[in-house]
Amino acid sequence: MVIVAIFNIKWYNKIMENYFEIAQEKFKKLQKKENVLILGIESSCDETSISIVKNGREILSNIIATQIEIHKRFGGVVPEVASRNHILAINTVLEQALLEAKITLEDIDAIAVTYGAGLVGALLVGVNFAKAVALALELPLIAVSHIEGHISANYLTHKKLEPPFVCLMVSGGHTAILKIDNYTTHKLLGSTIDDAVGEAFDKVARVLGLGYPGGVEIDRLAKLGKPTIKFTKHEILKDSLNFSFSGIKTAVINYINNQKQKNQPFCIEDVCASFQSLVVGELSNKAITACKLQSTKKLVVAGGVGANSFLKQELTRLCKENNIELFVPELKLCTDNAGMIASAGYYNLMANKNLSDLTLTAKPTVKL
Ligand code: KG4
Ligand code: ZN
Repeated sequence: MVIVAIFNIKWYNKIMENYFEIAQEKFKKLQKKENVLILGIESSCDETSISIVKNGREILSNIIATQIEIHKRFGGVVPEVASRNHILAINTVLEQALLEAKITLEDIDAIAVTYGAGLVGALLVGVNFAKAVALALELPLIAVSHIEGHISANYLTHKKLEPPFVCLMVSGGHTAILKIDNYTTHKLLGSTIDDAVGEAFDKVARVLGLGYPGGVEIDRLAKLGKPTIKFTKHEILKDSLNFSFSGIKTAVINYINNQKQKNQPFCIEDVCASFQSLVVGELSNKAITACKLQSTKKLVVAGGVGANSFLKQELTRLCKENNIELFVPELKLCTDNAGMIASAGYYNLMANKNLSDLTLTAKPTVKL
């Protein structure tokens, strides 16, 4: 029994070693190849997505199977349910991605997969699927950070965009201002000290009974209201590029509870407009300040809250006033998709970075 186990481990290690030697060789060769097709895989939260991207810029297919309808009834993403549904969806998503791109698996040059940040069980589905495909086809496996992916969504939308630039990262899990020096390195200029902005949108929406995901509903209702309610603002972080959204979120929740306790009606549209205006004000003012401090004339938005219409409106106005060029991904690339992961994978390949062996695993958090 023991001998069989030792034999199996040795055999397994040999396969791993052989695979990685071949992958390393192919990785080097690909850096000189004229056209590189990367298969991107994303499963960090509630979207199972697979995409095929050519040379980091051209989407051949970007299939997104969303679980929003499944999680809606729970008022938010249930991690276990998300993992199970990724497993159910991922094979079909791959088939569709290949079909739409009009290619077969043999045409793929490398696999890029989100290894973090995100829900660990959900990430594991994508990571293990990627490892299996990479091993079966003897293809290089590139580990991509979800944050880098969101930034790369801009390379798919804006074909001429190149670093350096300042990036305002606004997702459900992260809120930060970054200086992007080149395709694979960045410096953190400021970040949230508590909630991410998308999280604040979702929590306020939940208290207002707007369902999940809440950001898009707040965006819609805010257009029908006026920002007349004065929620208290955090002044502590006034002179820094850091953010705090938990105070604003609590102020909104307290206001709603107070009105309810006093049996006084309140206008949901005005609450949405007032909350959104305060949050967008913070984000856009600090993003512009960062551009000035960095003497940069390019501002790039990344992450799901980049879909917010008022944020885009305010940034457009402020960028025009300050002679800064603004880049926002097209709407469907703001939220989670594998196209952005394939694009980031391509730039990692070109920078000779993040080639992974088959020990790659999921990480719930990734350093900004
Ligand atoms: O980047 P993303 O898809 O996932 C993470 O990586 O976290 O971002 C999702 C977040 C959610 O919190 C969602 O409510 C928010 O983006 N979001 C919006 C809008 N569309 C999506 N927030 C405000 N306005 C929107 N239009
Ligand atoms: Zn995301």
